Amino acid sequence: MSTTGRGEVAAILGYGNQGAAHALNLRDSGRRVIVGARPGRGAEARAKEAGFEVFTPAEAAARADVIAMLVPDEAVPDAWATVGPAIPSGACLVFAHGFNLLYGALDVRSDADVVLVAPTGPGRVLRQVYERGDGLPAYLAVHQDGSGRAWQRAEDYAEWLGCARARLWRTTVREETEVDLFGEQTVLCGGMNELVTAAWRRWWRPATRRRSPTSECVHQLKFLADLLHERGVSGLRQGISGTALYGDVSRGARVIGPASREAMKTMLEEIRSGAFAKELAGEVAAGRPTILRETARAAAHPMEAARRRALGLPEA
Ligand SMILES: NC(=O)c1ccc[n+]([C@@H]2O[C@H](COP(=O)([O-])OP(=O)(O)OC[C@H]3O[C@@H](n4cnc5c(N)ncnc54)[C@H](OP(=O)(O)O)[C@@H]3O)[C@@H](O)[C@H]2O)c1
Repeated sequence: MSTTGRGEVAAILGYGNQGAAHALNLRDSGRRVIVGARPGRGAEARAKEAGFEVFTPAEAAARADVIAMLVPDEAVPDAWATVGPAIPSGACLVFAHGFNLLYGALDVRSDADVVLVAPTGPGRVLRQVYERGDGLPAYLAVHQDGSGRAWQRAEDYAEWLGCARARLWRTTVREETEVDLFGEQTVLCGGMNELVTAAWRRWWRPATRRRSPTSECVHQLKFLADLLHERGVSGLRQGISGTALYGDVSRGARVIGPASREAMKTMLEEIRSGAFAKELAGEVAAGRPTILRETARAAAHPMEAARRRALGLPEA
């Protein structure tokens, strides 16, 4: 049980996916919490409605002992221009992802602690799990140890979040960042979304009015992902039919063939060299054209309408 930081003020900068969960969990763990949000925006209103005292991000940082930087990664460099100079002496800065610590070249005063406390799931889940008395595991790392007790402060923060009820893994900023980016690009987001869309498109021919493959390509993914989560690949294989098993072991490597493996190698090199981070900074500076184009295209994709029909939802 943490004994440090009893009277400390924690400022949560950014009241979004992670920020709201951090603020609520810390408050329920008996911390004094204030929120930093841009005036007149949605996050400010949501934090006030939840009963938090809200300041601008720089004002909140100036009043705090522990400062969690939970604005989107791509917004951190801009936000840092006002937050950085406001950091008080001896403060502990908490990041939930190492991206800007590894690539951002943030100028942080030397007497501050800078730590990574990265919960292994979205904020909504972090909050739900905390409310039922459990915790999400988290990765911890120390980027800068100004006080000589940065590891302890990272562990304290993880305890307030509820993560110490599960597991805390010590890692490095580089490792957490590279693993996170590689996982989301190859499997969790990039790989999975392209895979289900390509499979759906290969099957679906509106003119034939055949059964939509939405169920097979999208909905059942959750059940199989749950099996994978609980039992691993070999446990999952024990839980599927013999036919599915033979299809898996005889065909899977054709889907993820040499071209995909080569692409993963290149993607990992781009992450490690910083080329991906540089490309993302260019995308943000240009007004996010790729993100806007591709998200609009996905929203208009016929698979989306089929999904809504399959679930009996009204048309978008
Ligand atoms: N999402 C996840 O599942 C997850 C999981 C683990 C770690 N993380 C990490 O947690 C951190 C926060 O990510 P998130 O997904 O929680 O962010 P988010 O929900 O996308 O955004 C957080 C809030 O930041 C505010 N904001 C945007 N730009 C800002 C700026 N320039 N200055 C001040 N506030 C600004 C936005 O509110 P307004 O527009 O209303 O101001 C928004 O509500 C990131 O480092 C991320 O990598 C995320």
